[in-house]
Amino acid sequence: MKFFIDTANIEEIKKANSIGLLDGVTTNPTLIAKEIERTKRKPADILAEICSIVKGPVSGEVIALDYENMVKEAMELHKIASNIAVKIPMTEDGLRAVRTLSEKDIMTNVTLIFTPVQAVLAAKAGATFTSPFIGRLDDISQEGINIVEDIHTIFENYGYPTEIIVASVRNPVHVLQSLLIGADIATIPYSVIMQLIKHPLTESGIKRFLDDYKKAQENL
Ligand code: G3P
Repeated sequence: MKFFIDTANIEEIKKANSIGLLDGVTTNPTLIAKEIERTKRKPADILAEICSIVKGPVSGEVIALDYENMVKEAMELHKIASNIAVKIPMTEDGLRAVRTLSEKDIMTNVTLIFTPVQAVLAAKAGATFTSPFIGRLDDISQEGINIVEDIHTIFENYGYPTEIIVASVRNPVHVLQSLLIGADIATIPYSVIMQLIKHPLTESGIKRFLDDYKKAQENL
């Protein structure tokens, strides 16, 4: 499974990249807004810097909701770098835009997917990626990971090449479940990446090793 980071925060991206964990990045308007707030930089400059750090796909989302402006914005995003994947919301106009962009060989990521059939529609429109939001389904008392399992089965049944990006990942269990299902990608917030690294027994184990070593040195 590829590990993407779900952030527009340049510092977090650099840190995750330094531990070799970055196959790609996803952003959305909320995450870009946070980085604008933090750095006072323009969205295109933020995305350009992310693309210079990370070789893999970097999702940048369109703001427009109508087909013409979605495609126009997508072309602008595509000019930023060749590894930009244009993120498009799951709507009728969105699917038309995905169709047009896929004919131009521009990578697309259909976002805000909440049912397996929405994911199929994205695949049929030619999306490169589809992003089921599992945490937001958990929030409304529906087991979010189940739609990832269904999408994975359906894509295997029919050989759709669209890759599944498990999104709205909120905890390490979501990452484990994605791995067990065989999802192509999980896009993970920096805080959850840090949780993946840590284990209380690792920490107490390190402490015990160092204490034992120190004691032996004192008795030399
Ligand atoms: O990748 C989608 C993600 O940014 C949404 O996450 O936690 O706001 O549901 P969340």
